[in-house]
Amino acid sequence: MAVIPGDGIGPEVIACALDAVEAAAREFGFRVDLTDYDLGSGRYLATGEVLPDSVVAELAEHDAILHGAVGTPEVPPGVLERGLLLRLRFEFDMYVNFRPIKLYPGVSSAITGLTPERCDMEVMRENTEGLYSGSGGFLHKGTDAEIANQNSVNTRTGTERIVRYAFERAMRRDRRLTLCHKTNVLTFAGDLWQRTTDEVAAEYPQVEVDYVHVDAACIHLIESPERFDVIVTDNMFGDIITDLGGAIAGGIGLAASGNLNPTGEYPSLFEPVHGTAPDIVGTGWANPVAAVFSAALCLEHLGEGEAATMVEKAAAEVLLGLGAMAGPRMGASTSEIGDRIVEAIGA
Ligand code: IPM
Ligand code: MN
Repeated sequence: MAVIPGDGIGPEVIACALDAVEAAAREFGFRVDLTDYDLGSGRYLATGEVLPDSVVAELAEHDAILHGAVGTPEVPPGVLERGLLLRLRFEFDMYVNFRPIKLYPGVSSAITGLTPERCDMEVMRENTEGLYSGSGGFLHKGTDAEIANQNSVNTRTGTERIVRYAFERAMRRDRRLTLCHKTNVLTFAGDLWQRTTDEVAAEYPQVEVDYVHVDAACIHLIESPERFDVIVTDNMFGDIITDLGGAIAGGIGLAASGNLNPTGEYPSLFEPVHGTAPDIVGTGWANPVAAVFSAALCLEHLGEGEAATMVEKAAAEVLLGLGAMAGPRMGASTSEIGDRIVEAIGA
């Protein structure tokens, strides 16, 4: 496993995630070999390097990557996001961004009165195309006639593989799949997504298929999250609705994700959905549970399903005793929460 702790609270939460992985490894009798990579703002500011090709080649030899978060206010926006995280997603063809939205018992949602039974879904966000592709450019930059184009790239192959993955997930859950797009306005991309979904649906008659426009999805996520089991959506919409999902499932301190290359040709990357939170670095206010849940997804990916389940259960148990889900009112510091999770894994 390659480890990129990154910047800000990244190293703080990754330390807890690794403790949990080691505890699970002891419990289940497997070994994890870790390679640490110093990437992020520190390295960029010191050397100008974001992600050398030699490091990409080394990372490619690993089975998985555990990633904290990158970015600090000193580095201009886009440098690390595009140069590091998006580059890895694209070069390693991690075409599924797997984001569970699950409210755990005892966790308070941004929606008053929401219960765990009503909030348990998975978002399959397309992770290599759409508005993130980098296709576009400026014309007449800096003049009054300036034009900035940012193209949404949607290929049949790219759409079909994420839709297919989503159907496979749905088959292992409640067998309900919702396509989330904006077909009433994005008539080219939307048409491709809808047609692809309809065609793949024919191979999965057991799965009930639904469609929502992305704006309406924001209403339903708040008012009736039970409507969703598996959501499949494009890169940009998936980015936005999973932040909303994070808020309804107890906050971004708990939201985990896996950037998956299901073929196994390249490693998959696991990371908390949150960022580097420069404002709370060193305060102990960062909740490490998002990183721990991400490590659990990583263990699952590595074929250690039982260990993954145990780590998830242990973290969920610790959540029950917390005050807030991040910040000064958590009632325990980042490392204390990490220690409690390790204890619960051994118990
Ligand atoms: C996320 C993040 C990234 C994204 C950024 C940091 C590039 O917001 O993983 O959701 O937009 O995908
Ligand atoms: Mn995001």
